[in-house]
Amino acid sequence: MKPRVLSGMRPTGALHLGHYHGALKNWVRLQADYECFYFVADWHALTTHYEEPGVIEKNVYDMVIDWIAAGLDPEQCTIFIQSRLPEHAELFTLLAMGTPLGWLERVPTYKDQIDKLKDRDLATYGFLGYPLLQAADILIYKASFVPVGEDQASHVELTREVARRFNHLYGRGASFEAQTAAAIGKLAKDDARYLEKQRKAFGETGSAEALAKGEAIVKKAATSIAGWSEADSELLMGHLRGAGRTILTEPQALHTEVTKLPGLDGAKMSKSYGNAILMRDEPAEVAKKIRGMMTDPARVRRTDPGNPEKCPVWDFHKVYSDAPTRDWVWKGCTTAGIGCLECKQPVIDAIVKEQQPWRERAEKYLANPKQVHWIVEMGTERARIVARQTMKDVREAMGLNY
Ligand code: TRP
Ligand code: SF4
Repeated sequence: MKPRVLSGMRPTGALHLGHYHGALKNWVRLQADYECFYFVADWHALTTHYEEPGVIEKNVYDMVIDWIAAGLDPEQCTIFIQSRLPEHAELFTLLAMGTPLGWLERVPTYKDQIDKLKDRDLATYGFLGYPLLQAADILIYKASFVPVGEDQASHVELTREVARRFNHLYGRGASFEAQTAAAIGKLAKDDARYLEKQRKAFGETGSAEALAKGEAIVKKAATSIAGWSEADSELLMGHLRGAGRTILTEPQALHTEVTKLPGLDGAKMSKSYGNAILMRDEPAEVAKKIRGMMTDPARVRRTDPGNPEKCPVWDFHKVYSDAPTRDWVWKGCTTAGIGCLECKQPVIDAIVKEQQPWRERAEKYLANPKQVHWIVEMGTERARIVARQTMKDVREAMGLNY
């Protein structure tokens, strides 16, 4: 079984090249190697845009079309919408009970965003709590990996702490000892003895090696013992760590190398800054935007040499051009051998070429919106099966199954 990956994106409408190179390209790559769950974080959009909920619906489907256009394959990955799964809200509520306020106040994005988005009133309960909602999004699918940008690393860290606390608080119900003994009873005698030895060693010395050896026994049992269940593995993993049953899995952030593509003015690409090239911009629009792009401000006349390091077009060449083209730019720019429009042409060509398959794939769905709805419907039902099971485990662990 492939490890599970989960990630979400706020529905900000049609996506731009910054989204593609910063996240989406990576999502597409991960599909083959992981069981990927990707969702539209529409509730998250409301944490900052609660005053204008109306725009969200169109944004949701525009964004899903861009996902598929970029190469997410609904057969390979699960695409769904957060708000269609009230289980996220239920887990959020239950986790909220035991989450210290200080954990949320100390999340670095909290103060950052309040400072940055001065035009919005973010002194809301929802905004403070949104990293915990994100934790619920992740934990409800027991995801092993979460591909996110550096800016979201602290949210994954919070998620890990929340999971640890939950397992600590609720992972040792009265039946824990008896269930653990029963699971150990299913192991071969030698393996059971070996597991106990590693557990003791880990408890006394914290040896990572002992932990790994113990885990190997549990993993072996999972694949070789008839009647072994996921719950047995969770029990013994918890037992091994001395932490109680692992009900919620601690995820890891997956910071794969991503390419940073700035906006037309060199600042972060963002639709609201008006410096974005959309994934589905027409070729003529792309050409117009790139031709109007800022260049090295010191290069006023065609005869002035320029410095590519001071020019956002160069950042585009770093993403889009091969080595010979980049050499041509560097030499041409610093010696005033080429003009800026000349320099920009290969970038225009490369973007238009990159967009071609996106446009083709998107066309089909734009002409037939029902098909997009259907894909989301299927994904939502697939996600629901997992989310329901986790909630069953969570309610049981908390003693809420009356
Ligand atoms: N908070 C993320 C963002 O603003 C989106 C998000 C919500 C997310 N839930 C998530 C990302 C769970 C990864 C996992 O970009
Ligand atoms: Fe920028 Fe290219 Fe003009 Fe140099 S030649 S300033 S790199 S656009």
